[in-house]
Formats: sequence, structure tokens, C-alpha cells
Amino acid sequence: MAGRFITLEGIDGAGKSSHLEALAAHLGSRGTEVVCTREPGGTALAEELRRLVLHLPMDAMTEALLVFAARRDHLRLVIEPALARGATVLCDRFTDATFAYQGAGRGFDADVLARLERWVHGELQPDLTIWFDLDPALAQVRLAEARKADRFEAQDLAFFERVRAGYAARRAANPARFATIDAAADRDVVWQQVLAALKAHRW
Ligand code: TYD
Repeated sequence: MAGRFITLEGIDGAGKSSHLEALAAHLGSRGTEVVCTREPGGTALAEELRRLVLHLPMDAMTEALLVFAARRDHLRLVIEPALARGATVLCDRFTDATFAYQGAGRGFDADVLARLERWVHGELQPDLTIWFDLDPALAQVRLAEARKADRFEAQDLAFFERVRAGYAARRAANPARFATIDAAADRDVVWQQVLAALKAHRW
């Protein structure tokens, strides 16, 4: 694949989404096409699945199957074609979130997730994953000021401690791909860390 695939990860309230647009503008200013997208979502079908996963009660296996179904559609229709034509794909969450939320958070079998991962995206992995790491207690304070919570945002601190540990485990397994951002810092300091992560990848 000719393009670059960058994903943003972190627990709810870590602040990744607020840097997404700035990051897209920064990357786009060098003249490359930037495709900004999100998971679950990014296609008509995947956005429908997102609505279901975020708002209807279901068990962890159903969540995992639905997010991978959404991912399959998103890869086929958006991500793979964009990478093939040389674009930079900037994706708000990807499979690390499934390991963190359905795996570590909900306790769903990580070996099954690893099989689904290989099945749905084979060798394709992000070139860079920017992980906005934040203490869940701080994230909860930020979320309390935000809009009405979805099924995940409504979870307790212990859930987000597990999700954070799930991200840490994915980073440990893929150290070269992960850039860890201290998301507790001031907004402009966080942004400087994001730029440093790009620079470290010679972008
Ligand atoms: P999020 O990306 O935080 O969007 P918003 O900022 O609009 O709330 O919300 C997506 C939610 O979906 C988030 O709580 C994590 C969850 N999620 C999973 O549980 N598994 C996944 O594989 C993905 C991609 C997301």
C-alpha cells in the first residue's frame, strides 16, 4: 500500500477527537490527500452498525462481531482504496480499540479477537498509532462536562482502568507502531507531543 495509515486511540474523554481536525489540516498542508474517518463508522453501513453498538444492549461477542463487520466494510470501501491511491488515512480508533474495549474492558477472548483481526485485515496494520493516554479518573471529570453518555461512556472507572491496560498491552506487543501521548497535559502541550510523534516517524 502506497499511503500512510494513522490511527488515534485512547479511553473516552482522553481528548483525541479534538486533535483530529488539526492533525488532518497539518498533514494536508503538505499537499497529500488526507482521508479523515472513524470507527466504528466511515461508511453508510458501518455508521448504522455504530449506532446499534453505541446504543442497544448486547453482549461482548455481539459487540466484537459488529465492530469487525463495520471494519470490513470500512476497509473495503474507504481505507484500502485510499491507501492504494497514496492518501494518508487518519482514523479515529481502529482494531486496538476492539482489544481494549471488547477484550480488556468486557473480558472477551483476545485469541478470538486476534483471529478476527487476521481474518478481516490480514497483514494490514496502522503505520502509526497515536495513543492519548490518560488516567480514567481525569477522563471521567472531562466526560461529566460533555454530552449524554453512550453505552461505553456510561461505564465505571474499573472498566476504563481495564481498557487503559488493554491499550498498554497492545503497545507492549507493537512498540514501534505506538506513540504514547500524555493526555493529562495542557492542550497545546498535547499537540506538541502529537507533532513530535509524527516527526519521530519522519513525517
Ligand atoms: P468515540 O470514538 O469515543 O467517539 P465519540 O467521541 O463520538 O464518542 O466513540 C466510539 C466508542 O466505541 C468508544 O466508546 C469506544 C467504542 N469502540 C469499541 O468498543 N470497540 C471498537 O472496536 C471501536 C472502534 C470503538
